[in-house]
Order: sequence, then structure tokens, then C-alpha cells
Amino acid sequence: MRSHLGGALRRADVGAKVTLGGWVHRSRDLGGLVFLTLRDREGVLQVSFNPDWTAPEVITAAAAVGVESVVLIEGTVHERPADQYNPEMATGEVEVRATAIRVVGPAVTPAIPVAVGRDAKPPAEELRLRHRVLDLRRPELQFALILRHRLMQATRSYLSGLGYLELETPILTKPTPEGARDFLVPSRVHAGEFYALPQSPQIYKQLFMCCGFDRYFQLARCFRDEDLRADRQLEFTQIDIEASFIGREDIITMAEGLIRALWAEAGIAVETPFARMSYADAMERYGCDRPDLRYDLAIADLSATFAGSESGIIQSALAAGGRVRGIVIPGGGAWSRKQVDELEAIAKSAGAGGLVRLKSAGGQVEGPLAKFLSPEAQAALGLSDGDLLLAVAGADRISSPALDRVRQECAVRLGLVDPAVRRFLWVLDFPMFDQDPETGALAAVHHPFTSPNADDMAAHPGAPERWRALAYDCVLNGMELGGGSIRTSDPAVQSRMFGLLGIAETSEQERRFGFLLEGLRAGAPPHGGIAFGFDRIAMLLAGATSLRDVIAFPKTTAARALFEGAPSVVPVQDLEELHIRTVTGA
Ligand code: AMO
Repeated sequence: MRSHLGGALRRADVGAKVTLGGWVHRSRDLGGLVFLTLRDREGVLQVSFNPDWTAPEVITAAAAVGVESVVLIEGTVHERPADQYNPEMATGEVEVRATAIRVVGPAVTPAIPVAVGRDAKPPAEELRLRHRVLDLRRPELQFALILRHRLMQATRSYLSGLGYLELETPILTKPTPEGARDFLVPSRVHAGEFYALPQSPQIYKQLFMCCGFDRYFQLARCFRDEDLRADRQLEFTQIDIEASFIGREDIITMAEGLIRALWAEAGIAVETPFARMSYADAMERYGCDRPDLRYDLAIADLSATFAGSESGIIQSALAAGGRVRGIVIPGGGAWSRKQVDELEAIAKSAGAGGLVRLKSAGGQVEGPLAKFLSPEAQAALGLSDGDLLLAVAGADRISSPALDRVRQECAVRLGLVDPAVRRFLWVLDFPMFDQDPETGALAAVHHPFTSPNADDMAAHPGAPERWRALAYDCVLNGMELGGGSIRTSDPAVQSRMFGLLGIAETSEQERRFGFLLEGLRAGAPPHGGIAFGFDRIAMLLAGATSLRDVIAFPKTTAARALFEGAPSVVPVQDLEELHIRTVTGA
């Protein structure tokens, strides 16, 4: 029906007779002269209705069309007079002089505006999500979803070019542990039995390696029933990758190339190789396993300096095997007591008992604990005039998360978080297990299929909590973009890992993971892989701050799909067919 896309018309098209289709973005009736802004996925275009070239009944019809209605328009492309160029529109040098208009899809009055002025704020997000069809018409979201498409194609092209096969894995499956709760789907045919939606295709991609498809990828939907945040959704997409006969360096090189290709698609050149840091160093210096390296503000161990202090809090923390760790904040000495109290509240909300504060002013160290420090100890702190030292005394598992949060907040306050700077980082050598300090129980830090470091196993055979894993994360400016590992391909080692994770019984291992063990026993090549959070990458490259702006129909942080209205109550008969009875009021 259309000869051209209106949003794509330029001066080179002047003189063309066109038939355009699209949505009425804006409408202005100047009494006899009507201007419609027509919108399609390429952008917006001015269409003018004027007695000099438009029949009176066509002008009347144009004046009556409501915004957001779908119209077909015939006319001719003209250059606008130079003083009427609109530099804010890509089509701003031309207009279409209309000779006919037909409303093919009339719209009711829109519940939220689609045309939002450059300086005006879009409607509240809840309204936008409730009226998502209108919201998705907005140029920003059109751009974001079109970019998403291009990134998907770039992924396919890059990986296919390297010989990776795009293979699909089931959605109705068995639980695959990635550390979140599963979504379960009841079976109608098998009463009392459930499928799980995949938290990731992890086991299947390893089985593909056992089958000999030695390079796999998938733009895989994953489902995790976890608390939502701006960078987390219940269902999301991974660029999921696995390869055989490779080691960590092969995966890292391939992954850096993928990142380069994706950023290039958005017009950004990325330099490789990325920086690298061990998990141990990241935790020691930044208190977190995905540090934002746009700024330093590193954590220092001040235990030796504080060892001689007579403060009860410090002494009891050190006696319990803890440390005193802190961050020096240049210029923080000028912050008010209230501002530092706010930082202490942040540290406390992350689990710390409090924040030790000391500042240097006029050559003097000041602060509640200053009197407990000898002049030598004060000098050893190395504070310059105007510095503020914020420290936490206690076990690392308390001080690390608290100082991580404090560090991030200080960087914001000091204006060190530059959105134009990109610091990619590989975090390597994660521990294999996380040990519960109370029960001693082990949990997999990455997932149970990651291979432990063989040297660590040999050096500390009876202390699995000291083993590192062959796992790696790709981090950008403090956000985890992706993670992966070299896997355990020996079924006996895999079985031992399950045992260490508390799945001791062979029958239980077989019940839950028999299909993986069977694949490994059938002859498994050495293999490993990685998965990137595709939505996160799309969000960053679209310049958005929430995954909801790059997912067409996302869930709210309250885990609801507002447009379609999910989750929803289902009729009792449907539940009965599924052999389910709900318990309410629990
Ligand atoms: P992991 O659990 O680290 O690894 O997930 C890989 C990447 O997926 C993204 N991601 C999410 N994105 C949006 N919403 C979520 N709820 C969410 N959860 C994770 C992150 C993360 O880095 N099977 C392993 C990969 C492997 O070992 O190959 C896995 O799923 O960007």
C-alpha cells in the first residue's frame, strides 16, 4: 500500500509522488491550513494540507483525524523554504503536500501521549507499561527495539562466522540450578508432576558438547523467580555459548570479539584485551566481585595501624579474627556530619555495625577514635589535609559489602562516575564454593557444573572451601555482563561435586542430574562456555537505565505484566485439570 516510508524521505526525494502510511503523531489546524506529523518506524514527517494543492473535502477530512489514528496519505515531496527547515527532524528539509487522506485505523483518544516534547517528561512508568502499545510507539522505544534486533543479528553473524551452531533447547524442562527459584509448570497428563522453566540452558548446552556439536550458541530465554531490580527481569535473554576442546583463553578471546562486534553495531569502538583481576584482588581492593573501575577509591587493610588502639570495638573485632579495612576519600573531610551519617546508614544497611570516621584537618587527625591512636599510628594512616577515612572493623564478609556500597556512594558524590568512560574487566579465579559461616554447608558460587582448579584440589584435598573454580565474569563499569566457566567433564568429579554440595545419595544425583551424568559417561570432550545478559547489553547500548526499556513487554519490579495483566487467577476447573488446589490466605 505504501510507496515510501515517510520517516525516510530526504531532499533527494523531492518531486516524488508518494503514498505513505503511518500514525498521526501531531495535528495542527490553522483554520483552512492543516499540518499533520506522520510517524512510522523510520521517524516523523510533516504533511501539509493547503487549498493551493489540496481539495477542500480532503482538508476537512485531515482536520478531523484524531492523533494516533492510522492513515494512508497521497501527495508529493517538496523542499521546505530554507527558513522553515527543522533541524530537529531527520526529514526536516522536506514536507509532503497531500492530495488525499484515508483513515484506515481510527484511534480512540490515547490514554497516554505518544508525542512527548523534547524537554517534557514521558508519563510515569506504571502508566507507560499499562498502555504499552502506545508507549512502544514512542521514538525512543522504537529505536531501542530496533537496536535490539540489530544486536541479535550481529550476534548471529559473529558467532555463525566462527562456526558456532544456533541450536534450541527446551523450555519445558527439569530444574537447572543457577541460584534462583524455579518457575514450575504443572503437567496435566502426569498428575502431581511438574516441568521447570530453564534458569539457563546450562545442562543442555553441555549435552550438545557430548553429542559432538562442538560449538553452540543460542539467544536463549531464561526464567528466574527472583526479586526484580532495574537490571533483573523474571524472564530475560542470554547470549548462551559453549565450545569443546577449548580452554579459558579461547573463550575469553571469542567473547571479547563478540563484545567488540556488538559495541561496533552501536557505533562504539572497544579496545581489547580487557583488564583482568582475580576474584581475591577484587574483593580485597573493592569489596565486590564486579568492581566499577572508572574510579579507584580502593580499600586498604588498616589492621596493623589500629592494632594498638584501645577502642573496644576495634579490639573485639580483631580478637575475633576480623580486620579493620577502610577507604580514604580525598576531599571527604569537608563533608558535613549529616553527610557522613548518611554514609554510615548505607554501611549499616549492608550489614556493618557502624563506620569508623577520621579526617585530617590542619595536620591533625580528628574523629571519635582519634584519641585511641598513637601519633605514630595516626601518621601511618597517611591522610593528607582534607581527606576522610571511613573504615569498618569486623569479618571480611561484613566489611566487604559495606565498603563496596560506601565506595560507590562516595564516587557518585565526588562526580567520579563518568558515563562516557567504559572499563571492561574480566574477574577470574572465583572460589568454587561459598561456605555458610554457621553450618559449614557449601554452595556453588557459579554453578555445580563448573570445574574446580585441579592444582587447588591437589594442594588442599580435604578443604574444598579453599578451591578456586575455572570461572570468569565479564564486568563493565560495575555491571556483570556475562559469566561462564570451564566445566567438569569427568563424571566421577561431577558426582563428587554434587556430593560436596549436599547431594550425597547416588539415587538423588541420578534423579536430579542423571541426564547430565549419562552424557558425561558417554564420552565428554573438555568443554566450557559463557553466557552474556543480552538485555543488559541492549540496555547499555540503547543508553537506557532499565531493562524495561529494551524489552517489549516486561514485568514491573512487583513481578506483574501490567499490559496483558499477568499473573492472573484461573478458573477452578482449569486447576482441577492440572491436579492443583490453591491454598489462599497463607
Ligand atoms: P549467569 O547466571 O551468570 O550464568 O547468567 C549470565 C548472565 O545473564 C544475565 N542475567 C540476567 N539478566 C537479566 N535478568 C536476570 N534476572 C538475570 N540473571 C542473569 C547477567 C549474567 O551475567 N549458565 C551460566 C552461564 C555459563 O556458565 O555459561 C549462567 O546462566 O548478565
